[in-house]
Amino acid sequence: MDRLRARNLARSLAAIALAALAAAGRAGAAEPIVLRFSHVVAVNTPKGQAADLFRRRAEELTGGRVHVEVFPNSTLYKDREEIEALQLGSVQMIAPSLSKFGPLGVTEFEVFDLPYLFSGYESLRRVTQGPVGRALLDKLEPKGIVGLAYWDNGFKAFSANRPLRVPADFRGLRVRVQPSVVLEAQMRALGAQPQILAFSDVTAALRAGVVDGAENPASNLWTQRMHEVQRHVTLTEHGYLGYAVVVNKRFWDALPRDVRAQLTRAMAEATEHANRIAREKNEEDLARLRAAGTTEIHVPTPAERLALKRALAPVHAQVEERVGRALLKDVYRAAGYDPDHP
Ligand code: LMR
Repeated sequence: MDRLRARNLARSLAAIALAALAAAGRAGAAEPIVLRFSHVVAVNTPKGQAADLFRRRAEELTGGRVHVEVFPNSTLYKDREEIEALQLGSVQMIAPSLSKFGPLGVTEFEVFDLPYLFSGYESLRRVTQGPVGRALLDKLEPKGIVGLAYWDNGFKAFSANRPLRVPADFRGLRVRVQPSVVLEAQMRALGAQPQILAFSDVTAALRAGVVDGAENPASNLWTQRMHEVQRHVTLTEHGYLGYAVVVNKRFWDALPRDVRAQLTRAMAEATEHANRIAREKNEEDLARLRAAGTTEIHVPTPAERLALKRALAPVHAQVEERVGRALLKDVYRAAGYDPDHP
C-alpha cells in the first residue's frame, strides 16, 4: 500500500471510530436513569401523595434524565422485603416508617415510638429538623443507605372490636404492631399481646381474627379499609407515625453531581408537601371514617388520657438501653419532654 492510501485509510478509520463514539454518547444520553420507589401505603395518603410529587418534580427538574417509577401499596415489596430490596439495589428509594429500622440493626429510630413523647408536630419537628434528626439518618450509611428526609404521617389511634377507654380494656387483646421493640413494650405495658405483621397483611388479619386490634393514623385506617373490620377507634394520639425517605448509597453516590442536586431539590419540595398535607389528609380521612358509620369513634376524656399516659410512662425507662441513653436525653431536650413529669 502506498503512503497516501495508507494515510487515507487511517483517516477513514479514525472518522468511523469518532462517529461510533458520538453515536454511543448520544445513545448514552438518551438512556434515562431509572429510580424505582417502592412503598406500602395507598396513593391517596400523605406518603403516597409525596412520592408522586417527588416523581413529577424529579423528572421535570432533571429534564427527563431521571425516570421515576413509584410502586405503591406493597405492589412490589412488603415491609421487610423493601428494606432488603433497597440494600440489594433492586429498588433505589423507599420511605419506611421510623418503626421499621430496628430489624436492620439501627434500633435508635425506635425512639420515635415512645408513647406520648411529642406534644405535637412542633415538638416533633425540633427533633426531625434538627441535629438529632440528621445524626439519626447518618447512622444508616454503614448499612449502604443514605437518609434524605423525614416525612410525616401523623399521630396514631387504637382500634379494636371493643371500646378502648381505660388501660384495662386492652388486657388480653392481640394487637398488631410494626417491628419495633418499643411498640412491643408499649402493648405489653397495657396488658395486650403485641403481634408483628407486615402492613399489607393487617386488614386481612383483623378480618380473620388473627389479631384483635391495631394502631394507626386515620389515613392508614381508612385507605386500608380497617374500619370495615374494627368497630371501635379511640383517638388516643399516643404515638407518632412518620417516615425516613432513604436511597441506596451506591446509586446515590454514582449519580452525576448536577442530577443529585436536582433530585435533592425535588426531595425538598416533596418533603414540604408531605409535611403540609399530612394533618389535613388525616383529618379528611377521620371525617370519612365518621361518615362511614361502621366504627364508633371515641375521643378520650382528660381522665382517660391521663390513665393511659400513666400506664405507658414506664415504657420509656424499659427501652432506654435499646435506643441509647445519650440519644434519649437529646431527644427529650429537643422534643421538650420531661421524663420526671411526663
Ligand atoms: C405500618 O406498618 O403500620 C405503617 O408503617 C405503614 C406506613 O407506611 O404508613
